Amino acid sequence: MTDHLDQTTQRDAHAIHSPEGRLTLRVGVTDSRPWYELTAGDKQLIGRSGLSLQAESSRELLHVSGDFSFEESSFDETWEQPWGEQRYVRNRYNELALCTDGFTIRFRLYDDGLGFRYEVAGSGELEILREDTEFRIPADSQAWWIPALGQNHYEHLYKKTSLSAIDTAHTPLTVELPDATYLAIHEAALYDYGAMNIVPIDGGLQSSITPLSSGIAATVALPFCAPWRTVIVSDTAAGLGASRLMLNLNEPSKISDTSWIQPAKFMGIWWGMFLEYFTWASGEKHGATTANALRYINAAKKLGISALLIEGWNEGWDGDWTQNGDKMNHMQPYPDFDIQTVTSYAKSQDIDIIGHHETSGNAAHYEWELPEAYDYYRHFGVRYIKTGYVNHRFNKDEFHSSQVGVRHYQKTVELAAERQIMLDIHEPVKGTGIERTWPNLMTREGVMGQEYEGTMVIPEHTTILPFTRLLAGPLDYTPGIFNLSGTPRKVQTTLAKQLAFYVTMYSPLQMAADLPEHYADQPAFAFIRDVPVSWDVSLPLDGVIGDYYVIARKDCNSDDWYLGAVTDEHERTLTVSLDFLDEHQTYEATVYRDADDAHYQHNPEAHTIEQRHVARGDSLEIRLAPGGGFAVKIALQHTTAYPYPTQ
Ligand code: NOJ
Ligand code: CA
Repeated sequence: MTDHLDQTTQRDAHAIHSPEGRLTLRVGVTDSRPWYELTAGDKQLIGRSGLSLQAESSRELLHVSGDFSFEESSFDETWEQPWGEQRYVRNRYNELALCTDGFTIRFRLYDDGLGFRYEVAGSGELEILREDTEFRIPADSQAWWIPALGQNHYEHLYKKTSLSAIDTAHTPLTVELPDATYLAIHEAALYDYGAMNIVPIDGGLQSSITPLSSGIAATVALPFCAPWRTVIVSDTAAGLGASRLMLNLNEPSKISDTSWIQPAKFMGIWWGMFLEYFTWASGEKHGATTANALRYINAAKKLGISALLIEGWNEGWDGDWTQNGDKMNHMQPYPDFDIQTVTSYAKSQDIDIIGHHETSGNAAHYEWELPEAYDYYRHFGVRYIKTGYVNHRFNKDEFHSSQVGVRHYQKTVELAAERQIMLDIHEPVKGTGIERTWPNLMTREGVMGQEYEGTMVIPEHTTILPFTRLLAGPLDYTPGIFNLSGTPRKVQTTLAKQLAFYVTMYSPLQMAADLPEHYADQPAFAFIRDVPVSWDVSLPLDGVIGDYYVIARKDCNSDDWYLGAVTDEHERTLTVSLDFLDEHQTYEATVYRDADDAHYQHNPEAHTIEQRHVARGDSLEIRLAPGGGFAVKIALQHTTAYPYPTQ
């Protein structure tokens, strides 16, 4: 191992190990500038990387001018999530803080990665001009990324390039080092600051904060804590998804009674708009009519789905709604939508209505409507709201991921929490784990999702998301399209792959997105009805980024397991060892797989449903068609503990 302390005296640098010794972090100061480096045994992961935060007149906030000290501490706690991919989460790290008079840089080293943040002392306000947090990694590494600061915020296909070919990119940004170690660079607890993007530099990568329209990164109040900069480290690509580092770096829930926060599956007056059978706007094809809503409530009830999203119910959609955010009136239903009748009927059928607020990116107008627009929904018993910010810019000239955007979204989350409202945010800022602190922020989009299916999505896309976007938390991808070729949208997956999405892409609010008539007489719908929206444990099993992915998850409310696997445009056969099952138990597996002649382009709906008895030690060998996937429910067979019934 190169000794990076050679140019720096021992007094000026300090090293710590992660709790099980897997990673080593060294932090130091050279020429008044702080730096860090990260190794795993003999292997350098991140070379000596400088840290810099600049205020007005390029004043360096992290300049070490006088005395400084290193402080070490450790932490180990297990906490419980109200919903999520994993019920109990262990938060175990060793901490190293570089402390000076004016600032502290706090590093938390986990066995699966690193988080660190800048804490600046003082009082009053400060303009942050730029932040240069370096991540020095070999130039011949490969990265998967989507562009930031352009149009369409996060709604892009991923690119795989060398580091130098990265344009300003969003995080999570996933990197494969030349020795096949994987890193995911991201952030945790993003509040009141611009999001961190990544740009290439000579010798690696560096942060670049989404600017405000004024050109600066943010105006902050002192004392100030920047979001955590995070790096997940994994020997395998699939292992990235097992890390809970982002959640661990967020504060515990600020909502003490979380019993009202309930994961759910939902249908919607939604896909019909994308098929152009319905419109959001008023007129002959208006989708959100009272009659349609009642029909959809009945359909959801019959299919065993507990919630229904209704879009386009309010005044404001006529004309070019993407530009007319100031015309959206979220307290005025269209005349053919009787909100009282719809919500009372839904209540009588035990169906939750998911309300909808499209803002067209006009957050200023929306803030003017709030909180009354939330109270209006609550008056009708609506406790879930999907929001949307369709527009290339926020309030016409800011980025969604700027400090203005981050502040706005946070305001909606807190106003919603006060009213016991759960949110699903479309066109959001990326997730940074704040759902630990605000678990009413259940899910978000921030992806090229199913709404682009049939136009731009390619089969590879959903084999990249588990290694990239999904590391940022729950994703409302809106899966579940069954009629894949018989409509104006030719979706580029098989039906079995649509089922797999319920396992490969986590969301506590998970949509069954197709029209109710497309689910009629479909035995495969049983999988959507059965699949949980909250998990006890999640085990990413295998995957190659851009080729395939397979994951096992255990239900939060039973001893049943589920498997999901997706492939790109190539067929492949995957063998899954069922070693995760309990010993001495027998299970019944229901396998939903591509039929032997299925193909995403010319035979996407062909699938086979089979049952087999399985136990720990068995393995399942399943073929995935080109553009296909599989989904498996593995149900515990309940055996009677005593041979005779007891009284
Ligand atoms: C874009 C959202 O992602 C989509 O789900 C929604 O239907 C439209 N905007 C209209 O709000
Ligand atoms: Ca969208």
